[in-house]
Amino acid sequence: MDSLAGLRFLVTGGGGFIGSNLVRHLLDKGPEVVRVLDDFSTGRRENLAPVASAIELLEGDICDGALVERAVEGIDYVLHQAAIPSVPRSVEEPERTTAVIVAGTVTVLAKAVRAGVKRVVVASSSSVYGDSDVLPKHEDMPLNPLSPYAAGKGACELLCRSFHQVYRLETVCLRYFNIFGPRQDPNSQYAAVIPKFITELAANRPLPIFGDGLQSRDFTYVGNVVDANILACFAQNAPGRTFNIGCGEQVTLLELADVLGRLMGCALRITHLPSRAGDVRHSLADITRAREILGYAPSVDLETGLRRTISHFVASKTLPQE
Ligand SMILES: NC(=O)c1ccc[n+]([C@@H]2O[C@H](COP(=O)([O-])OP(=O)(O)OC[C@H]3O[C@@H](n4cnc5c(N)ncnc54)[C@H](O)[C@@H]3O)[C@@H](O)[C@H]2O)c1
Repeated sequence: MDSLAGLRFLVTGGGGFIGSNLVRHLLDKGPEVVRVLDDFSTGRRENLAPVASAIELLEGDICDGALVERAVEGIDYVLHQAAIPSVPRSVEEPERTTAVIVAGTVTVLAKAVRAGVKRVVVASSSSVYGDSDVLPKHEDMPLNPLSPYAAGKGACELLCRSFHQVYRLETVCLRYFNIFGPRQDPNSQYAAVIPKFITELAANRPLPIFGDGLQSRDFTYVGNVVDANILACFAQNAPGRTFNIGCGEQVTLLELADVLGRLMGCALRITHLPSRAGDVRHSLADITRAREILGYAPSVDLETGLRRTISHFVASKTLPQE
């Protein structure tokens, strides 16, 4: 989609890692409105600082019905990213994390129906599959959530399906597989593995790996996810459905550590820690459905994405200084 002229978008969680990448991409395509709703609990105001004058910002909780009503007013497309996005945090704080995920999503859907929103695209997660010997994971497999976070995302998907059936609201769920890229937070106690590894390598510290390091993930550059969201807004046969969004490549944590060490020119040291509750062993996406119905194709591969991410972290001085 070359131009989004005349269209009005709401990005919930737009101050976060994926949300801020979405916001910046949307702004490049000249839409009429890009509105953000975020409480900045895990996101950062700095993520939006360079585009602050180009967006409408509503600050507050996604579970606040009156606020969400204002946020969806006059909007064509909602890209719903707001969540507390961490498996280990959901194990420690199940009430708060699932409340934001489930109550937040149902609030967005209900207000979107009343406001006449054209389509709501919802961020789900590969964690809904849990552990299964079947790889790659395809959308028709049964859900097997191993954490409150994953269970919450599964509930969101069911809510989306039911809102499509009951209210004819166009909903599309995207199951993201381990997304990485610029503006992902490396400093949180719950930081995702790639920003964490880049930071530790830059500081010449050993990489912490939970378990033996042979667990695998389908690491996906954020630009691919941005593309998938835009496609999901407009693809004809997408409403009411769920799509895997990954690269379709399986990489172990030990392999990832090797590539990062090579790209950053750093010697590799690894500290193995006990495995974490709620973590799955292997994750790999079958992206056939997204290719066929959304026209999605991951255009940035792992190594290119890692190079871009490292450059961004260096340029933005996110990395520890020597
Ligand atoms: N990063 C990944 O690998 C990944 C994988 C699967 C799914 N997801 C999903 O993608 C979405 C974006 O994740 P992210 O990695 O950008 O995380 P993030 O923490 O950077 O972004 C989430 C945003 O939601 C906001 N938020 C949290 N609670 C809120 C509330 N109550 N009200 C309003 N805003 C609130 C945060 O402040 C933040 O800006 C989430 O829904 C997450 O579950 C991410």
